[in-house]
Amino acid sequence: MDDFLRRLPKAELHLHIEGTLEPELMFALARRNGVSLPYASVEAVRAAYDFTDLQSFLDLYYQGMSVLRTAEDFHDLAMDYFRRAHAEGVVHVEMHFDPQAHLARGVELATVMEGLGQARRQAERELGLSTALIMAFLRDRSPEEAMQLLEKASPYWETLDAVGLDSAERDHPPAKFQAVFERARRLGIPRVAHAGEEGPPEYIREALDLLDVCRIDHGVRCLEDPALVERLRDQGVVLTVCPLSNVRLKVVERIEAHPLPRLLDAGLRLTLNSDDPAYFGGGMLANFRACQRAFDWSKSTFIQLAGIAIEAAFMDETRRLSLHRRLAECS
Ligand code: ADE
Ligand code: ZN
Repeated sequence: MDDFLRRLPKAELHLHIEGTLEPELMFALARRNGVSLPYASVEAVRAAYDFTDLQSFLDLYYQGMSVLRTAEDFHDLAMDYFRRAHAEGVVHVEMHFDPQAHLARGVELATVMEGLGQARRQAERELGLSTALIMAFLRDRSPEEAMQLLEKASPYWETLDAVGLDSAERDHPPAKFQAVFERARRLGIPRVAHAGEEGPPEYIREALDLLDVCRIDHGVRCLEDPALVERLRDQGVVLTVCPLSNVRLKVVERIEAHPLPRLLDAGLRLTLNSDDPAYFGGGMLANFRACQRAFDWSKSTFIQLAGIAIEAAFMDETRRLSLHRRLAECS
């Protein structure tokens, strides 16, 4: 089974590239850029990753990314992750990135785009990995700032596969960002949003109705609203679920109590993802393995989930067909 899970061609649709920053690279970049960290060692960083909720994680996540300053840093961050993901049998990575968190530290959007762009081209060339880019708006900042970012990103609109919505969910409903998502829609940029991670089912409805998203990131709290579950099923909306993230951020108490089996039984279209693998105890393979251990799923369930990820990915149809063919060889 373990060999099967590794060989399965896995498409990752929910990943924050800043959340792939391992403590070793954090220290190396801090040294390279003369940034001081409030930790004595790599072990001390890992020991600090004991989260009580989403906000307690976000505090460390934003602090950790302070070491990212140059295009080379963003390149090294992404390439490091792409190599690890490739070794786990990941064939496609869609990465959220958080420009506002970098702009606030004086790091220009062009710097981020240059570094990530170089890494994407290198990953395609050297690893045969396809990638997509999702520019996220920080929902705990103002909608005006989000709109400014979308306009600032005009030289890159063609490069963006989607825009997304992330950061602290509580008290920051999707409705706040209706205008900026409407602008993205008019520009022809697809839209996704985190909803129903810590926030109520109502935020999932808002993301669908007001932001016109094609996927919901997380969405696990939909189960509290049976009519919403029915709607998600009937419309075939994909939820990008992150099991280990949900455990670490105390969305669920332990993996065995995760609603994944109930979501599957409800007929929803799900994918498995790692969210912030450096902070939550592992990448795609660790998430697949955790589900295997907790739910004793058969190979066909994993093939079904991997197939949904390929169907719902931002990729050209030639690539999609070739990945579906690779997946068919696994059964
Ligand atoms: N940013 C990075 N990881 C996140 C998560 N799990 N939820 C919301 N915002 C995030
Ligand atoms: Zn996320």
